[in-house]
Amino acid sequence: MKPFAVPRPFPAVPIMNPSNHSVQALPATVLKPSVRRDLLVVGAVTILTFMVSSILELNELLEHWTRPHEAYQLDELPVTFLAMALALVWFSWRRSRQAIEQVALRMATQQALVDSEEQYRMLFMENLSANLLATPGGMIKLANPAAAELLGFKTAQDLNHRSLADFYAERGLWEAHRERLLRGHRIELPVLQLRRGDGASVQVVAKLSARLSPAREPELHVYVTDITEVALMQAELALALEENRRLSQRSMQVQEEERRNLARELHDEMGQSLNAIKVDAVTIRDHGAATSEIRRSAQAIVEVSSQVYDLVRSLTQRLRPVALDELGLRSAVEYGIEQWRRRHPAVHCSFETQGELEELGEQVNITLYRLVQECLTNVVKHADAGRVAVRLTRASSPANGEDMLHFSFEDDGRGFDPTRRKQGLGLAGLRERVEALAGHFELFSAPGEGVKIKAIIPAKGAV
Ligand SMILES: Nc1ncnc2c1ncn2[C@@H]1O[C@H](COP(=O)(O)OP(=O)(O)OP(=O)(O)O)[C@@H](O)[C@H]1O
Ligand SMILES: [Mg+2]
Repeated sequence: MKPFAVPRPFPAVPIMNPSNHSVQALPATVLKPSVRRDLLVVGAVTILTFMVSSILELNELLEHWTRPHEAYQLDELPVTFLAMALALVWFSWRRSRQAIEQVALRMATQQALVDSEEQYRMLFMENLSANLLATPGGMIKLANPAAAELLGFKTAQDLNHRSLADFYAERGLWEAHRERLLRGHRIELPVLQLRRGDGASVQVVAKLSARLSPAREPELHVYVTDITEVALMQAELALALEENRRLSQRSMQVQEEERRNLARELHDEMGQSLNAIKVDAVTIRDHGAATSEIRRSAQAIVEVSSQVYDLVRSLTQRLRPVALDELGLRSAVEYGIEQWRRRHPAVHCSFETQGELEELGEQVNITLYRLVQECLTNVVKHADAGRVAVRLTRASSPANGEDMLHFSFEDDGRGFDPTRRKQGLGLAGLRERVEALAGHFELFSAPGEGVKIKAIIPAKGAV
């Protein structure tokens, strides 16, 4: 195995209890020497010197010794020595001040160190996430209370000397992680399965790294947060969303079926009845015995029944585009757009298709048809546009090769701010339809910048 390659730890400080600080209060006598006593010593030395010097007549002796060497100015030595003594006093005063400052600085540094150690200790112990320190072999050396709680132990001390491997649901995975850590890698895991002391399993997000301890020994750091609840909630949410999607797909299916029945009834019942009324009215109008008044009334009935018949036809068409069943998607959309162009000749509407658009599922067909229909209706209601472009394409997704249908719509009208609350249901309904088929719906617009809508639907539809 390669030699241990660990990054240097950022705070190379031991975790220490403030109650046993290494900086103990020094005895007051060491830090504050007694000034009075020292002055007494100085006074006593001076008096003693004077007395000894008087008894021994030192000055006379000195003069006696130095006189023969007058040429060398040795008699000036006493004053010189006095000046040197004074200079030495000044020198030692300066040095002592420097020493005092250095001691104060060292003490402040040590205090800061103790404070920061206490801070790190608190951060480690009080952290809501589980924190563990272990030997390179995975033996736990230190753990915080959150780690004990997560792994199902009473106190943090209960975890000491246990192996991290025992808490991995997959032992092989632990070995792989340890190998990587010892090679100096950091490991970040969005999901990791652990096993508690009581055998229950927990899902966590974990961060693992190897560092040097303050004593310069390699150790493993493990930071773990319990996400079991979140993971459960996520799974439930995903299920609920899936359920929702299926429900809304089903409700749209029912709605379309209902519309189709209604359209059929309208067409078959109302259409036939109106036709019969019209035929009867024509018979009455053309009857030889009819007076002019009867003829006029019969003619009015013919006209009204024709108008109502047209209305029923257009209603039927809106409820259920017959062309969709009869002609398929491309032709039905082409037909619908052609009708729309006739009603709105001032707007230039282009329609392009690409790829095979036949034999798509019923739901996909009706969704794409409704997309075109609602977008064109919105142009008339809101856009005041000069140009409109609609495109339907079938292509494989570059990501996974899945067969996808792309709808795109664009107008150059007045646009709108999509973040503002809207009253209408048209666009919301389109988004719902698309998402119910596991598709993706996007709308881009801004005031004065027209509207762009894109929808992508899996060609096979939602299952
Ligand atoms: N092509 C467009 N150009 C400009 N504004 C638009 C366009 N399409 C939609 N809007 C704006 O978005 C709003 C919401 O449109 P949506 O189709 O959801 O509702 P609606 O058309 O007002 O009513 P509904 O479709 O329910 O009959 C509209 O009221 C309009 O302000
Ligand atoms: Mg609308």
